[in-house]
Amino acid sequence: MLPAENSFGLFFLANYDKRNYVVRNIFMRAFFRKILPEPVLRAYAAVKRFIRKKILHSAPEAERVEFDCDTVYKGHFGVTYRGIPCLKCPFDYVHYQMILDALKPDLVIEIGTNIGGGALYLADLMNIIGRGTVHTIDIADRADKLLRDHPRIKLFTRGWEKYDVRNAAGFRKVLVIEDSSHTYENTLGTLRKFGPLVTPGSYFIVEDGIINEQDREEDYQGGPLRAIREYLAADDSYVVDRAYCDWFGKNATANVNGYLKKVK
Ligand SMILES: C[S@@+](CC[C@H](N)C(=O)[O-])C[C@H]1O[C@@H](n2cnc3c(N)ncnc32)[C@H](O)[C@@H]1O
Repeated sequence: MLPAENSFGLFFLANYDKRNYVVRNIFMRAFFRKILPEPVLRAYAAVKRFIRKKILHSAPEAERVEFDCDTVYKGHFGVTYRGIPCLKCPFDYVHYQMILDALKPDLVIEIGTNIGGGALYLADLMNIIGRGTVHTIDIADRADKLLRDHPRIKLFTRGWEKYDVRNAAGFRKVLVIEDSSHTYENTLGTLRKFGPLVTPGSYFIVEDGIINEQDREEDYQGGPLRAIREYLAADDSYVVDRAYCDWFGKNATANVNGYLKKVK
């Protein structure tokens, strides 16, 4: 036998009109959002999340949401585009298509082809947009046949060091993506060589600054972030475009501080 107040509680719960609950909740939330300052609301949400996840464990195992940099990093190695490996962070596919559509570049230079999923993705987007060419550079010659047959893709296989910048002459809007070895020295080298080719309003995108977050920067002499810092200190024609870096949360991208916009 339940104590009276508890049986009333059960009766009340059993007969509760869910629609009323939802409507009231929405109004209450809107009301609190109006009167409480943002940091208080955020702190409240964080506490609620913490209690729900760590104390109540209300979500069944299969419905829990658990991912972070490491799980995304692990997953990105298995990503394919049209069946061939495409090594990019999932958030960055969205950024790339938005940038290409907004900018409509004549030329994208991709440093680091690998099998070619990235170049193929860019070239197909250009097909949709109706303009543009991809020059993709590697030291190896392992690009998939899909790239070799693509009318918008030109392969260069002797490394970025041997790419003749005169190949980029005559293009009005040039965008560069550095996605090769990610060492500090290599990244800085590409910034110095290809930085001047980028046209004002366009981007030099440095991939994989995320390695610092993964505590792997020592293996890369400080990695892309060290190179970006150094390059930006010497060249004020670029700024970090925070809009793309922070689109899904602060630097929620593999390209941490890597969306460099040429402003002059
Ligand atoms: C991360 S993978 C590129 C992934 C590719 N962009 C994609 O989206 O799928 C890095 C590639 O950079 C190439 N690489 C390394 N050093 C290079 C250099 N000096 N010049 C051009 N490519 C280089 C490697 O051979 C490798 O294929």
